[in-house]
Amino acid sequence: MAVLVSGQGSILEAMVAEGVPVALVLADRPCRGIEWAKGAGLSAHLVDRADFGGFGPDFDRDTFTTRCTEVLELEDPTLVAMAGFGTIFSPSIFERFGGRMLNTHPSLLPAFPGWHAVRDALEAKAVVTGCTVHLATEVMDVGPILSQGEVVIDPRWGEAELHEAIKTIERSLYPATIKALLADHGRREAPRGERGGAT
Ligand code: GRF
Repeated sequence: MAVLVSGQGSILEAMVAEGVPVALVLADRPCRGIEWAKGAGLSAHLVDRADFGGFGPDFDRDTFTTRCTEVLELEDPTLVAMAGFGTIFSPSIFERFGGRMLNTHPSLLPAFPGWHAVRDALEAKAVVTGCTVHLATEVMDVGPILSQGEVVIDPRWGEAELHEAIKTIERSLYPATIKALLADHGRREAPRGERGGAT
């Protein structure tokens, strides 16, 4: 597994605690997630957006994407999991890792796509929201859904409390979904005699 982070990295931490085999962590900016990965002895790589034009109109998305693809290729991961990753890649990365890139999003997609899903759910006075683990595609937040978890919104909650409640679900749902995918991949990759069936 490769895991991509931009922030706290609490979902990355949960993956490692749940036994997800994380071989590489990549961050697009200095953040707690990459520091935690280094401290945990993981192969940790910073491909800093600041070196590619930052967050303004000068951001060189194509070159940044190419550099991230090169870093991921160091481990040739079975799956690439975005866990709070804050950059949209250029389409080229999907030529290399398409069908193997996952994301977790803090809403019940297709409801509330985009960067402010938690705030949008509150503003819409939704009663229930949650999280969605899905395949990442060239278009943000629309890839095939793999799993979802619901959170009933306590009307007293603000954005931070609701996001934390959602992340509590993400920290179990995302590792469980990944482990199921890896087990399925392992079964398909295993040579015939090791599948447990008749020879
Ligand atoms: C998660 O809620 C994820 O869905 C969103 O960012 C959050 C990441 O949290 N895109 P953390 O950095 O793993 O704590």
